Amino acid sequence: MTTSSSERGVSLGMPELPAPAYPDDVRVRLEADAREIIARYPDSRSALLPLLHLVQSEEGHVTRTGMRFCADVLDLTTAEVTAVATFYTMYRRRPSGDYQVGVCTNTLCAVMGGDAIFEGLQEYLGVGNGETTDDGKITLEHIECNAACDFAPVVMVNWEFFDNQTVQSAKRLVDELRAGHTVSPTRGAPLCTFKETARILAGFPDEREGAVEASGGAGPASLVGLRLARGETAPARVVHPRDGGPHDEAQDRAPSDATPHDPSPTEHLSSHDAPQDTSASDPSHPSPTTTRDGGTSPRGLDAAGPTAEEGE
Ligand code: FES
Repeated sequence: MTTSSSERGVSLGMPELPAPAYPDDVRVRLEADAREIIARYPDSRSALLPLLHLVQSEEGHVTRTGMRFCADVLDLTTAEVTAVATFYTMYRRRPSGDYQVGVCTNTLCAVMGGDAIFEGLQEYLGVGNGETTDDGKITLEHIECNAACDFAPVVMVNWEFFDNQTVQSAKRLVDELRAGHTVSPTRGAPLCTFKETARILAGFPDEREGAVEASGGAGPASLVGLRLARGETAPARVVHPRDGGPHDEAQDRAPSDATPHDPSPTEHLSSHDAPQDTSASDPSHPSPTTTRDGGTSPRGLDAAGPTAEEGE
């Protein structure tokens, strides 16, 4: 194990982060884990990210003690470690719940229902963004796009995907988590706690039964490009097979065998997909449009549209 700069009597001109030390038994255990992680890298400082997951697995968030530990074993300054730990949102900076429930509220998920889910869970759980329920089970937070936009709106629990969620299914999900039931994501093995997840992210084996075998395929929209590259014909439009009616559990949990289809207009659920009522399509209030001779005429009276030469 390397010695810290302070132990070597080297001053880097920065004060060390004041932090209590781990109890001896914890430190010995973590040092053994740290040695295993560091050995995977040609340059020890490259092990900082998994080491932050390791200390997060110990206390559920990255404490000052954890950052001091990382600095010591990697021969970094605590300022360097702090800069990394505060940059990445996967590292939590304060005590949090067993299950981190993240609702994607980036643009696509937001308009597909993510905003409504987040607001619904805030009210249902009685907590705001980044806050934890009184029983210590759930920490609710906004999350950014997790590249599952074809399953929008997406909820992630301890970084496992729950696709095509609704306000109702999200409430059922947190109910099950708080009740201590086994909960399986749309793809992957049944959930484990945030601390257990952090240890897996540190690079230690995922020992949950069936975890290695559990997987899920990419969604239909994600595969359109691949199908085209293979010379197959892609569907004209891909939407999830939801009918807009009351949701049963199977629908809420995003069936993995969802198949692409070209929906009828009544199937469209989102404002993106549905035909829009606009002034251009409203014969009672036709919008003016530029005519070919440079003048204007109501859209409804100039149905021919632009010529092929005009390009659109
Ligand atoms: S916008 Fe939510 S997963 Fe991409």
